[in-house]
Amino acid sequence: MPAPRTVLLTGAAGGLGTLMRDLLPGHGPGGGYALRLLDMRPVEGEPESIVADLADRDALREAVRGVDAIIHLAGISLEASFEKILAANIEGTYNLYEAAREEGVGRVVFASSNHAVGYTPRPQGDDPLIPIDTPRRPDTFYGLSKCFGEDLAQLYWERHGIETVSVRIGSCFPEPTSVRMLSVWMSPADGARLFHAALTAENVGHTVVHGSSANTRLWWDLASARALGYEPQDDSEPYAAKLLAEQGELDPANPAHTRLGGPFVTDPPIWPY
Ligand SMILES: NC(=O)c1ccc[n+]([C@@H]2O[C@H](COP(=O)([O-])OP(=O)(O)OC[C@H]3O[C@@H](n4cnc5c(N)ncnc54)[C@H](O)[C@@H]3O)[C@@H](O)[C@H]2O)c1
Repeated sequence: MPAPRTVLLTGAAGGLGTLMRDLLPGHGPGGGYALRLLDMRPVEGEPESIVADLADRDALREAVRGVDAIIHLAGISLEASFEKILAANIEGTYNLYEAAREEGVGRVVFASSNHAVGYTPRPQGDDPLIPIDTPRRPDTFYGLSKCFGEDLAQLYWERHGIETVSVRIGSCFPEPTSVRMLSVWMSPADGARLFHAALTAENVGHTVVHGSSANTRLWWDLASARALGYEPQDDSEPYAAKLLAEQGELDPANPAHTRLGGPFVTDPPIWPY
């Protein structure tokens, strides 16, 4: 596969999309990626961005036409009602893969989440790191939609030869803001490194990776990400003393502190009834 150059970035107006618009182009082959931007909201300062909902299959088909790869960030990024998750994250992701199939796009990078396995107990003491093939344990309808996205990616690889790297992102924000985030943080710069590796690694089929920096307090194994050529450069540890002084150590009696998904496992569920 020649290195992708033109990349559709969905969810370009969101938090991660905004960070990646800034950081990703510098990594691309031959002086940078050419990003085509899509979101249901206008992207500030980008008049040529495509304003379209993932429900609009015609618009998606036009948006993917001629791109080498897609980074799929668009969708609901927190828990919501099943109906909303169904439309944006499940049907929306299906619509995007259909557009990719129809237009012959060969590579997708899918923003999955740690919440696909959120009920998994976090390692404590000398416990081994969580392997990437740990069983699915979604903690929300949101996490369930990420399980669906990963399985959809597998199907489109087996059936249609579309390659995907599903990145189970921890927390990608400029700085960690909680003690939990010391373990799951992915610095924006490492995020761009990982997305670049996911776009350019050869023969990925469908590969699932954890997305975080090389944190001292890391909970999960980065081996499958490193196998793509990802070399994280950052560690949350410089933020540890301040956050621990403010918030204290994680409480082993509190499920929000002992499961990978953190507060997502204890926040009141949003049931449709
Ligand atoms: N930021 C993180 O730390 C993190 C962690 C795990 C997973 N993720 C995943 O990464 C992606 C981006 O996260 P984020 O933090 O930037 O979220 P965000 O909510 O800031 O951005 C999501 C963007 O998607 C757009 N969007 C939502 N529904 C849409 C639809 N139906 N059609 C078109 N656009 C739509 C929104 O307008 C928004 O701009 C999400 O899929 C999220 O689940 C992020």
